[in-house]
Amino acid sequence: MPRTPYIAANWKMNKTVAEAAEFIDTLLPRIAATQSDVVVCPPFTALTAVVERRYGTAVKVAAQNMHEESAGAFTGEVSAPMLVELDVEAVVLGHSERRQYFGETDEALARKVVAALAADLEPILCVGESEAARDGGETEEVLERQLQTDLGGVEGADLSRVVIAYEPVWAIGTGRTATAEQAQETCAFIRDVVRMRGGAADDLRILYGGSVKPANAAELLSQPDVDGALVGGAALDPEDFAGIVEAAG
Ligand code: PGA
Repeated sequence: MPRTPYIAANWKMNKTVAEAAEFIDTLLPRIAATQSDVVVCPPFTALTAVVERRYGTAVKVAAQNMHEESAGAFTGEVSAPMLVELDVEAVVLGHSERRQYFGETDEALARKVVAALAADLEPILCVGESEAARDGGETEEVLERQLQTDLGGVEGADLSRVVIAYEPVWAIGTGRTATAEQAQETCAFIRDVVRMRGGAADDLRILYGGSVKPANAAELLSQPDVDGALVGGAALDPEDFAGIVEAAG
């Protein structure tokens, strides 16, 4: 069975409730015919507005982060059961901005991935190398270390319940996209790492993220190991995002 394409809109800290509602109302008729999984990742405050508008459509909703504990004295945090209660289906974990600005560690991510799966939330786990690591020829080492730690608590069939987003840090928000060859080569490497951990790697969805736009999406998505895209800047405009969904077929 071919893997279903997976196209996700990571809004980051953008869009009020009113703006989120407007986006969804414009997007839905544009993507009515898609066969892909389309996922929108709003900030916490707009989750419910998006969930309510997408009922009866193919659009899934993901949060951008969560805490690994289900409740407790963690001011400012949100837990997996709280997201599930809102009918949120997925959660982005380990985005490089969270690693860089909020001290997200691989050890915490390992616990978050387990907690998300236990709550039946689909983790979208982000991994990726810095520019210095790529230039130094350390891309595979960095990715392997991230994957082995972040997936440390997941075994067997559960591995393919995780969606992995390959997001080279140097390509995020910079307008510098990885070439289709770089994206393919690195996503294939990620699939091999998961295969070596005993996962059903052929079922695993691996996304590319980093300056994906309507103009480059088709080429990136045509690579055999690139199963989708995690889109930031171009996902703020419903027409641009719909163009990327269309490129996935
Ligand atoms: P970008 O962001 O598309 O703006 O590069 C991607 C991401 O951070 O997920």
